[in-house]
Amino acid sequence: MTKCIAFHSYKGGTGKTTLAANFAALLAKKGYRAFLLDLDVYAPSLQSYFNTDPKKWINDFLYDNAELKEVVLDFTPVIDRIGGSSTNNSAETKANAKRGQLGVGFCNAKKEEIYKLEGGSPATGKQDTSKIHLLRRFILLRELLISEYHADYVIIDTSPGIRYWSINALAVADTLLLTLKMGDLDIAGTRKLAEEIYGSFTKFGTKSFLLWNRVAGYCIPHNVQDDRMLYSTASPSSTTAPLPTGSGTPANLDHPASKSKSSLLMEKQQATETDMKKFLTNETGMEVISAIPCYCDIQFSRKEFLTVLEHPEHPFTKQFERLIQAVEAV
Ligand SMILES: Nc1ncnc2c1ncn2[C@@H]1O[C@H](COP(=O)(O)OP(=O)(O)OP(=O)(O)O)[C@@H](O)[C@H]1O
Ligand SMILES: [Mg+2]
Repeated sequence: MTKCIAFHSYKGGTGKTTLAANFAALLAKKGYRAFLLDLDVYAPSLQSYFNTDPKKWINDFLYDNAELKEVVLDFTPVIDRIGGSSTNNSAETKANAKRGQLGVGFCNAKKEEIYKLEGGSPATGKQDTSKIHLLRRFILLRELLISEYHADYVIIDTSPGIRYWSINALAVADTLLLTLKMGDLDIAGTRKLAEEIYGSFTKFGTKSFLLWNRVAGYCIPHNVQDDRMLYSTASPSSTTAPLPTGSGTPANLDHPASKSKSSLLMEKQQATETDMKKFLTNETGMEVISAIPCYCDIQFSRKEFLTVLEHPEHPFTKQFERLIQAVEAV
């Protein structure tokens, strides 16, 4: 059965577009038919993310000016080109591998198109352009992806907050991923969103989860990572004082009570993460489906583009593998 997942947030800049695009790409690489739709109608960004110039937009479909096949562009070749094939490259495995698909529908970022969608005004000259008609067209778009494209997943990138089109995205989805980012947690806002908006959908069977992004602590400075000093875990002061190794005596790397600085930092980070997950769940009533680490190479790259394909061994990708497993189980 098709799953329709909306990436939403209370605040902007939490990582929705980055996560939705990587999620869709990895699904396609795994053999699913995944369709990614930009419904961030107030500030669309998938077009610049995919660095493409579509002739037709989701907007055109909503205004009855385009057919689905003109609006959903096929990015499957990108999966093959960047993502390569599965780890087992034998001809037999390739032949048996389920072929995934990545289709992307873009939203027009032109100012007049944004105004038009926001107001639902009949700028095309057609009369039936009321907001409710546009919503019906969006529901039809999703239905056609299911019936004609046999979509396994429809993934919707949304606008943050409580706005007409973000609520529409939540209404057509069956799984809502409320994205929060570390360091800019708005617990009160997220709780309000969970209670007032998500609650009205979950009553009717929609599933909702927190997706905690940009979790800190993974970029350990290289001088700490490379440190070969050993630290005892036996005493409370162990994180600050190195084990005495004796003058000229080599450190005992196999000692069970000894750990490198980096592994101690990682343990501390994991404990903080576990506490934070509990706190978030208590505060919002929603389970954390995944905690995506923050990586500087993603945040500060000149152009992050489908890291999950470019770097299959990256811990970011590994976390997406786990997110997919969690979503498959929903
Ligand atoms: N896990 C991560 N680690 C490091 N950087 C990240 C991570 N996730 C997202 N980012 C970075 O955070 C920035 C904001 O991400 P993005 O544009 O996806 O957020 P958004 O929620 O879609 O924003 P908006 O609400 O404006 O649409 C981008 O520069 C992106 O590369
Ligand atoms: Mg975005």
